[in-house]
Amino acid sequence: MSIQTKRVAKKVTLTTIAKMKGVEPITMVTAYDALFAKLFDGEVDIILVGDSLNMSFLGKNDTLSATMEQMIYHTQAVCNGASLPLIVLDMPFGSYTNEVDAIKNATRAYQETDAQAVKIEGGKERANIVKALTNNSIAVLGHIGLMPQFVRSDGGYRVRGKDREDIEKLIEDAKALELAGAFAIVVEGVKPEAGKAITQAVNIPTIGIGAGVDTDGQVLVWSDMFGFFEEFKPKFVKQYLNGAKLIKEGLDRYTSEVKNREFPNSSFSY
Ligand code: KIV
Repeated sequence: MSIQTKRVAKKVTLTTIAKMKGVEPITMVTAYDALFAKLFDGEVDIILVGDSLNMSFLGKNDTLSATMEQMIYHTQAVCNGASLPLIVLDMPFGSYTNEVDAIKNATRAYQETDAQAVKIEGGKERANIVKALTNNSIAVLGHIGLMPQFVRSDGGYRVRGKDREDIEKLIEDAKALELAGAFAIVVEGVKPEAGKAITQAVNIPTIGIGAGVDTDGQVLVWSDMFGFFEEFKPKFVKQYLNGAKLIKEGLDRYTSEVKNREFPNSSFSY
């Protein structure tokens, strides 16, 4: 495909995503600003304004200190840059602890940004929250498996679905979210057999990240997939570009030219 041709021609809606299950793999990437959202516009089906921005953009060790204000600010920027993908705002830790807070904060997300859905982490223990939101006309993307907002209470990032018992638990979680009205589910950090079993157990699309080849779609964090985040590289991340290397090379050329008085020359002067 030529890089001039856009892959996605029309605005992606919840209906578009629902129809893709078992038909065409769903592509989702994160974005946190208008600049990159514009580059991704028309190329991917969904943009997630993930709370992962707390790590890759704010330099924190985990996602837990992200706030509703940050998520709204970054989602507004993404909505300014991209018009075609479905845009999802990731609800930060502590913003959906109970139904009242969840409705209040997700309503803010809808009123202050053009996001079409919110994402929340949690399985059947959070089904009541998902139901409260969907009953109030707020579309929800679920998130099960390895859930980064549980990193402190779980004592680390743990791959899930390693035995039949845990796979059954994950299936129960997925079914509870489906019943509560989630339109799709992110499945993170599970063994491929678990990704497949969850995908087969529900009628809504699953979007995998480190969940094997059988989910209905894939999501990656943009700064990981393009090699800008150098702190660590999870096993499931494929780097499609060495962004950090490219930037460093460009920066090195710029600083050398300025130091050597090669830049600017007459071509770059009024
Ligand atoms: O915050 C995020 O970027 C996410 C993805 C890893 C799915 O939740």
